[in-house]
Amino acid sequence: MTAAPALSPEPVHQTLTSWYQQAARELPWRREDCSPWGVLVSETMLQQTPVSRVLPRWEEWMRRWPEPVDTAGAPLAELLTVWDRLGYPRRALRLQQAAQAIVEFHDGEVPQTADQLRALPGVGEYTAAAVACFAFGQPEVVVDTNIRRVHARIFSGQALPGKTFTAEQRRLARDVFPNPEADGGQLACTWNIAAMELGALICTARSPACSECPAAQLCAWRIAGSPPPTEEQKTRGQSWAGTDRQVRGAIMAALRTGGAPEREELLSDLQLPAADLDQRRRCLESLVADGLAEELQGRVALPGAHPSC
Ligand code: ADE
Repeated sequence: MTAAPALSPEPVHQTLTSWYQQAARELPWRREDCSPWGVLVSETMLQQTPVSRVLPRWEEWMRRWPEPVDTAGAPLAELLTVWDRLGYPRRALRLQQAAQAIVEFHDGEVPQTADQLRALPGVGEYTAAAVACFAFGQPEVVVDTNIRRVHARIFSGQALPGKTFTAEQRRLARDVFPNPEADGGQLACTWNIAAMELGALICTARSPACSECPAAQLCAWRIAGSPPPTEEQKTRGQSWAGTDRQVRGAIMAALRTGGAPEREELLSDLQLPAADLDQRRRCLESLVADGLAEELQGRVALPGAHPSC
């Protein structure tokens, strides 16, 4: 296995960025007039969640809390209700904490550098680089799952990149990154989003549409005859039924309908045949520990939403 690009990246830059100019989806967080806060909200929502599910939630969030200061002061129960079924509701909590830090330490303005962004609660390496790049035009190397797969195929000739982001893949992403000094980073930013879009629309994990791929002639994996993934490269899809994630999601869905149900009634009413009472109780405890639910006098509600509060 080699980290060095199998072919020169420049023709790939040109091919993918030209393709992106005519094939990109029109998404509201990509518009010129989208605020940096809108970009940060979108990048947080888009982690592990498809665009189609994010779109209505993002629109509503931005309508209700268009600036960090609005999110910082919103009741958490309302944020969690708008977050709705995006899953991983800790992200909503973290987004509010990030908004509060932006208000407290950055005068309510989303900071511009990846280092400053990285210091916000819940903002990881990916999100910091993506916001710095897509909101502020900073030539940061952005690597998400789609981009890793595009790099693995085009430059390393591999079917799939595997589950973890390795040091070798990090080096590859840097090696094939357009030189920002050539044009102030414009090509670098378009390269990030173009590779991401190719991974989302064409170079998908399960059924890549190579006949429609603008880079098919340049792709090391294709040139090698599209070998299948090795066992190591295959990632098992996340199972859902019977998992704690499913149970936590069902509890949050019940709490979003309002009121403050009695604890045991709430748990026994969940339509989850695979989850026994122990698992249900454990999941509720974890939600309370995460600050996503509150228990008072045997009744459970979203944070701050207890009738007795
Ligand atoms: N545009 C900018 N960032 C994106 C993302 N993470 N997913 C889809 N489209 C995007």
